[in-house]
Amino acid sequence: MNLGRLNHVGVATPSIAKSVETYRTLLGAAAIGEPFDLPAQGVKVCFVDAPNTQIELIEPYDDASPIAGFLKKNPAGGQHHVCFEVPDIHAAVAHLTANGATVLGEPRIGAHGTPIVFLHPRDMGGMLIELMESPAEGRHG
Ligand code: CO
Repeated sequence: MNLGRLNHVGVATPSIAKSVETYRTLLGAAAIGEPFDLPAQGVKVCFVDAPNTQIELIEPYDDASPIAGFLKKNPAGGQHHVCFEVPDIHAAVAHLTANGATVLGEPRIGAHGTPIVFLHPRDMGGMLIELMESPAEGRHG
């Protein structure tokens, strides 16, 4: 497989609305998307555009959300994962599995509408890595 571009940095937050205000007023972010729900993944998501990548703000959808546990340990929120693009998610999963890495679950549709998987932090120097298949057109789908 070939490592593609950094698509986004995932940031957990107890409040997307508050985080959006912080990015807008303190960092001068001008291009901020509308928040949307991904109930199947237990999260609400909002993308903040930087010139070369995006910040994915992630808020728990409900108490069962995987993000709820993260916020219990990090009440103010914090960096949760980084996401790299790959041209073919199934080829990437096959390569990683053959090389002993732990792929968390089957490929599923992510926030950009293309298939994603997460890789276990123990294989990645303590970082949770998301791989997403590159959108067919445009940088951000
Ligand atoms: Co993500």
